Amino acid sequence: MKIFFCIFAIILVCFMATSCQKKQEEQPQTNSAIVIGYSQIGDESAWRTYLTSSIKKAATENGIQLIFENAEQKQENQLKAIRSFIAYQVDLIAFSPIVETGWDNVLEEAKTAGIPVILVDRQIEVKDNSLYECYIGSDFETEGLKAANFLLEKLKNTTDDVAIVELRGTDNSTPAIGRSKGFRNGLKNHSNFNIIHSENADFMRSKGAEAMKEILKKYDKVDVLYSHNDPMTLGAIDAMKEMGFKPGEDIIIITIDGEQAAIDRLEAGEINCVIECSPNLGQTIVKTAKQYLLGESISRNIYTEEEVFTEWDLSSEILPRGY
Ligand code: AHR
Repeated sequence: MKIFFCIFAIILVCFMATSCQKKQEEQPQTNSAIVIGYSQIGDESAWRTYLTSSIKKAATENGIQLIFENAEQKQENQLKAIRSFIAYQVDLIAFSPIVETGWDNVLEEAKTAGIPVILVDRQIEVKDNSLYECYIGSDFETEGLKAANFLLEKLKNTTDDVAIVELRGTDNSTPAIGRSKGFRNGLKNHSNFNIIHSENADFMRSKGAEAMKEILKKYDKVDVLYSHNDPMTLGAIDAMKEMGFKPGEDIIIITIDGEQAAIDRLEAGEINCVIECSPNLGQTIVKTAKQYLLGESISRNIYTEEEVFTEWDLSSEILPRGY
């Protein structure tokens, strides 16, 4: 009887060991095995710092090892970071390209190393589109169009000339390109709406303030400020106040991002329209990376859903922004 019991126990142990080993072999790559290298542009806005924390949070929650590099607004630092991810042999590279061009060589190196690449928040222009798997972020042209639509609605009864100033984001960056294009397309059939001045203020508050000060000195009449992000807008508002203008009344202000600080100004009547651009991309990035690494199909473009907040909305309906 004892012998029978021993034999049975040995068979049971062997069976459990092989079935366990089989399970491990069948199991696709697990979270803990995934290493993602992410190159961030910098921290020029609350929007961007929120994007950073959203990615870090999603990685932690999903047991992913994240190697994070901050490029401090320099493309050369992003190139260095991507090369370091390749040397480390990460499973996947994600990055937010500061500008659209100049990525061909480094992404060819990633491709040769067999490392897939996901674009986050901004897009690129490369000769070979197979150098990246997908784009996750906003549709910037639509944001520009929404800005134009608000303005047309706000001034629907105006036949006078409307003098518009545009503060642009970093030249050759996807949001600056798309937001300019969408806005102009939206206004193209309205010849009394004129962009009298357009200037690059690099998505930065200090540059927005400097630019606006000079613009207000130069032009007798500015009816509208269309600004590509909240920090530049907040800087421009400082300049307007300093020079005796009432933002939101003397000058109509349309801004993009939707930081809490901009929503607060909307509620205070100093901004007329805020176009949302969502930085809450972390979960989508991690989910898409996992799907790709498990061999599942993913969409080429994954756009976030975004709202428009205007002076006509009930402020009580706008939820706290978190950034
Ligand atoms: O690429 C998105 C833009 O970059 C945001 O509008 C801006 O605030 C950020 O710096």
